[in-house]
Amino acid sequence: MMQRRTFLTGTAAAFALPAAAAPGLAETLADLVARMTPEEKAGQLTIVNDPFRWRPGGVNPDDLDSDQARTLQEIRAGRLGGLFNGLGAEGARFIQRVALEESRLGIPLLFAADILHGLRTVFPVPLAEAASWDPELAERTARAAAIEGAASGIHQTYAPMVDVGRDQRWGRVVEGAGEDVLLNSLFAAARTRGFQGSAGLAASDALLATPKHFAAYGAAEGGLDYNSADISERALREVYLPPFEAAFAAGAQSTMSAFNTVDGVPATGNRWLLRDCLRGELGFTGFVVADYTADRELVAHGFAEDDRDAARLAMLAGVDMVMMSDLYLRYLPGLIAEGAVPAERVDEAVTRVLRAKAALGLFADPYRGTDPEVERRVVGSPAHRQLAREAGRRSVVLLKNDADLLPLPRTARIALIGPLLEDSAQAAGPWSIFADHARIIPLAEGFRAAVADPANLTVTPGCLPEAPLPGGIAAAVVASEAAEVVILVLGETASMSAEAQSRVTIDIPPPQLALAEAVAATGRPVVMVVKSGRGLELPNVVLDSGAILFAWFLGSEEGPAVAEIVFGDHAPSGRLPVSLPFRSGQSPYYYAHRSTGRPETPASRDYKARYREAPNRARYPFGHGLTYGAVDYEAIRLSSDQMEPGGEIVATLRLANRGQSPVEEVVQLYLHDLAASVAQPVRLLKAFRRVSVPAGDQLEVSFTLRHEDLGFLGQDLAPRVEPGRFRLWLAPDAESGLPADFTLTA
Ligand code: BGC
Repeated sequence: MMQRRTFLTGTAAAFALPAAAAPGLAETLADLVARMTPEEKAGQLTIVNDPFRWRPGGVNPDDLDSDQARTLQEIRAGRLGGLFNGLGAEGARFIQRVALEESRLGIPLLFAADILHGLRTVFPVPLAEAASWDPELAERTARAAAIEGAASGIHQTYAPMVDVGRDQRWGRVVEGAGEDVLLNSLFAAARTRGFQGSAGLAASDALLATPKHFAAYGAAEGGLDYNSADISERALREVYLPPFEAAFAAGAQSTMSAFNTVDGVPATGNRWLLRDCLRGELGFTGFVVADYTADRELVAHGFAEDDRDAARLAMLAGVDMVMMSDLYLRYLPGLIAEGAVPAERVDEAVTRVLRAKAALGLFADPYRGTDPEVERRVVGSPAHRQLAREAGRRSVVLLKNDADLLPLPRTARIALIGPLLEDSAQAAGPWSIFADHARIIPLAEGFRAAVADPANLTVTPGCLPEAPLPGGIAAAVVASEAAEVVILVLGETASMSAEAQSRVTIDIPPPQLALAEAVAATGRPVVMVVKSGRGLELPNVVLDSGAILFAWFLGSEEGPAVAEIVFGDHAPSGRLPVSLPFRSGQSPYYYAHRSTGRPETPASRDYKARYREAPNRARYPFGHGLTYGAVDYEAIRLSSDQMEPGGEIVATLRLANRGQSPVEEVVQLYLHDLAASVAQPVRLLKAFRRVSVPAGDQLEVSFTLRHEDLGFLGQDLAPRVEPGRFRLWLAPDAESGLPADFTLTA
């Protein structure tokens, strides 16, 4: 039976709507749109910060005056379609009631929020989680985040961030899955599935996913946030669009138009991008929300004459909803009246937004997610905390472990040193605006709880993150000398990555390096733990230490997660999702670059593509990550050295674990088309598999490579596969491994 619900509105109008996807929805929406005034339509297409509920500070500058009285007035007048970044079931109920009962048409509001890596329970930052090389893990954490968000009165998340991050100067690398197209695509799909769940968007624990920022935002020139993306259409299609396609294929029904220009045209005013490409080619059917004031910024870009022109251009380009901007409210009614914007285009946008609301079940159950009892029960649940710990642990990457310095015995006398140890914000990382800080366990607390005897642990800051601390180094030296081993935690603060946090040099701040030098001079063995939201240049004092763990920002359970690795309760299993260059000046450095005509080789470096100060390689390559123990990559064989058109070959690797404990290995398959009508990257990740090799055992791992896996975009940008020679590697990272050649026959 069709479910219907009738709302009584302030002016006694009644409106009934069938459930999402029910027969008749299109007609009913058309009927609703027909009853809306141009002002109400513009309202449906506008979302602003939530001034009512608890909301985080310091995320974005307030553009509109987010005064409660004014917002209430706007809601009553039907001049708002939604609110974002407010949190809480009770508040959501209050505001929703105003929209339902005091506005003319009683259309429910949409509540959105930036839920990137957890809500009250914080999971590792997305880049860290990508280091797990386990999309299924990301699906589980996104699911948990959605459960918490949906129970807190939120319907839509402005996530996943699916921008490929190849330039580590760009601070927003931290929000995505790193530099690789395949990894980004797999995580984009997994996170979308996790946020939206499998029971449909109307399920009480589903969030509408919003892959962002469409498109090429990660290609910001010079790594400068908001900067132009001056890239070829090939790069757009090969690198930046695939993660969006993956998210759409996984069911994302919303996307966010980016701040940047693409080929000179701002994404938010880019008709080709938002209509021809997004809808025509990628088949997207949801709604487009412009990033925060990106519509108004068309003026600053020098693309629109003024605000009115910006509203016109954004609407014509295909921006359905604007965020934190009142341009649609101010100008759309006039633009429609004058014929500068076709009324049908506005109706199309309104219909898309209403369709999303219907899909979320908001017409059937506008008060979904507003039960404080449910909120109390699910938010910060023990299961979510446990998941945060697992995800944290699995995000840690062991870069180096000389002479098996790690794991440490719990009984060791340890000096834990560094400026990022006690502050919950340094565990939560950027974009954790709803974090429950009282329940975050930072590193110091995690270690205090994990050591055999707290009297054997000293905790010393040594310096401030970006400045010396009077007496700090002296105290750290004393602590080091009294210890058997030092755990030195260095790196970026949480506020050094994410939005608007571009860096010229991707390094560890100098005051921390002075501390590291002094500690190293004591001669104590040093376990280095690096925290960061991007790939970093690591200086000698870090590289020379006995062991290096790359530990990012791991969320609510950062302390216990790192301690469990350090003390060997679990072996590290993370892999770098970004290359760590030798020097900052190599940026953008990514493994899947094309060859020059003069590639550097160990034998020949003069007049070759390299820097005076650094080779054209990574210091630690993409895909690298050690564990306790090691496996040998012993032999590779192909089922044939010829592939027929339409055929496949199987590549098999023998892995041997000669150690005493089981080892988890991420075997990576890279491919290079040795000669093609468009030069191909020197290596491209095509597949990977996590396998467990028992102690003292050997294992065969096979990958099937099909004809279509050899494809690329031809000179005409159409997909093609060309016969010829190929090289594949089964490898532990993007620079080593066992190669094997084969030929695709004509
Ligand atoms: C960011 C978006 C975010 C939005 C809302 C913008 O500044 O670019 O990623 O979703 O703010 O907070």
